Amino acid sequence: MDKILAGPILRRVERSQVYIWLASGEPLSLSAKLYGHDLTSPPLSETSNVKKAQLGEKLFVYLLKITPEPGTASFPEGELLYYDLLVQDAGGNEYSLVRGNPDFVFYESGHQQLPGFFIPAGSKFKRIMHGSCRRPHAKQALPGWEKMDQLSSGAGLIEAHFDDLNERPAALFLTGDQIYADDVAMSVLAMLIDQSQPLTGWHERMPVDDHGGEVTPADIKLHGRMHELNLAGFGITSTAADNHLLTFAEYAGMYLAVLGGEVSLPQRGHVFSRIHHSAAVDYNRERKRAMAFFATRRDIRRLLANIPVYMIMDDHEVTDDWNLNPAWEAKMYGNPFGRRMVSNALAAYWAFQGWGNDPDKFDDAFLDTIEAHLNRHQASGAEADAFDAQMLDRQVADRWSYSLSTRPFTVVLDTRMHREAGSNGQAGACVLMNGPARHWLTQLLQQQRNNLGADYPLLLISATPVFGFARMEKFQQVASKLGISPATLDLESWRQGFPLLESVLTQPASGVREVTVLSGDVHYSFSSQGAFNSTAPDVQIHAAQLTSSPVSNNPAGGVIGKVLLHVEQDDDYPELMTPQETKGQVTSLNNIGLVLFADDGSTEKHVLVARRRKVEPPKHVLTYQYSSSGV
Ligand SMILES: [Fe+2]
Repeated sequence: MDKILAGPILRRVERSQVYIWLASGEPLSLSAKLYGHDLTSPPLSETSNVKKAQLGEKLFVYLLKITPEPGTASFPEGELLYYDLLVQDAGGNEYSLVRGNPDFVFYESGHQQLPGFFIPAGSKFKRIMHGSCRRPHAKQALPGWEKMDQLSSGAGLIEAHFDDLNERPAALFLTGDQIYADDVAMSVLAMLIDQSQPLTGWHERMPVDDHGGEVTPADIKLHGRMHELNLAGFGITSTAADNHLLTFAEYAGMYLAVLGGEVSLPQRGHVFSRIHHSAAVDYNRERKRAMAFFATRRDIRRLLANIPVYMIMDDHEVTDDWNLNPAWEAKMYGNPFGRRMVSNALAAYWAFQGWGNDPDKFDDAFLDTIEAHLNRHQASGAEADAFDAQMLDRQVADRWSYSLSTRPFTVVLDTRMHREAGSNGQAGACVLMNGPARHWLTQLLQQQRNNLGADYPLLLISATPVFGFARMEKFQQVASKLGISPATLDLESWRQGFPLLESVLTQPASGVREVTVLSGDVHYSFSSQGAFNSTAPDVQIHAAQLTSSPVSNNPAGGVIGKVLLHVEQDDDYPELMTPQETKGQVTSLNNIGLVLFADDGSTEKHVLVARRRKVEPPKHVLTYQYSSSGV
């Protein structure tokens, strides 16, 4: 098992295809088998197609596609399916990577030594999970709660309901900030730098000017990157960027860690001479928090192997405030270092998150361009230029957005790569989807109306909430008028572009009846209601705004947060905040969200699931009953 760096992760799953993702330290001769719930019967499919991307000397990312046997139209729905991954060694012997694997990618409660999942009957979601924001070294969210990654509570739900398909969630949506590239613990960066050379074969050099100037980030002392590289000069606005990820190997290594790979953080003594003189952080305390986060990595690994996982990035996959507004973009993309850093981040995002969402979007030429640059080990040249040009390209409006033919119909929005200036100009708050991106959504909804007829329910995933928590957003607007910068305030809500989105959804040809919006980003969780209105024609679409944020980060909760959120304490869970004047709920709890859909595809309930200690089973700690008549 040593050769497997992360995975298997179950990715896009449909009746006609199942994708499995895997990262390996060496090339493998892989195949897959899909079984029905009775494992004594022959496999349902032994037909698999394998794509490989070599991203470093010892970094291979695989995407396996299993399809029904010829003559069979689709895989069975509404029943447990299991899969096996097989490797052929040099002698032609085949062995399983997952069966009986001591690293626990199967659940004991599944009664089989293989990972398992299901395709809901009629592709109709009854229950799904969602969550966002996993910063390993964040302090524990609430006093009295153990520091942990609440994604592991999602793993607990699968374990508890492995073969009860009424209770078991059918998919997991990770809605942004799956990594924090800008805000990295010193111990984690030390580990990532140490892994870089073995993983990719070099310590990457990055261009700093247009005259051949280069820098090797691995040579900079820990916690010294902001200081020594003057990252702000390249356009980085994060205030926590002393250990900012910069090279492809660092971004890739961070993904391997958060996706359940092996983690070994060095002790302070081992890195003492590598710490920058300006560092004023408690190395050991930060390391302890990160260790507590990674302590549940086997739960995470098992979870991701046993449920279809869909992902979308927010800003921290690249850097804080990524593409905040045109002024921010002009500075970042106006220099070769900024361009390369974003290209590295996006190439890693593609390999570890984006590829498996909608694999058909990425052809061989796309893979070739990435491989050609990453395996050449040069900071500049034709391959490097082609790499930057491809990763930063914004011609394709749905490069990272995608949809799923489920009920409700699922649309996952990229709200980062296709922005445009709002009414406050180049340096103000932005519209999150520009004309071409809105045109793509318009066409997609019209197509659905043609396929499904009018009045279909929509599941919309947007990293930042479409219907924000009003009190907090108003505070941001007032503060902005007082001169506090959009970057400081994270002024990235939908407020600027809401009427434009509203007009797309309410257009006569869209056919959308009811919307469930899933979001993260804000570091507090809330469930509320909203509506998209149009006077001509007279349309009102009810919406449930369900926000689960964060899985592991620090919520708004200090004195300012409590005043803004107008806290009333709950008797059973004194940590929960229930504001008096809203029809929703808001909380600073770390959690994973569970959405229950009614038979017609509208939201029925939003449940926040969490546990206080790693040894406890996850609990439903806050349940919000949705009713569209409550708007
Ligand atoms: Fe976040």
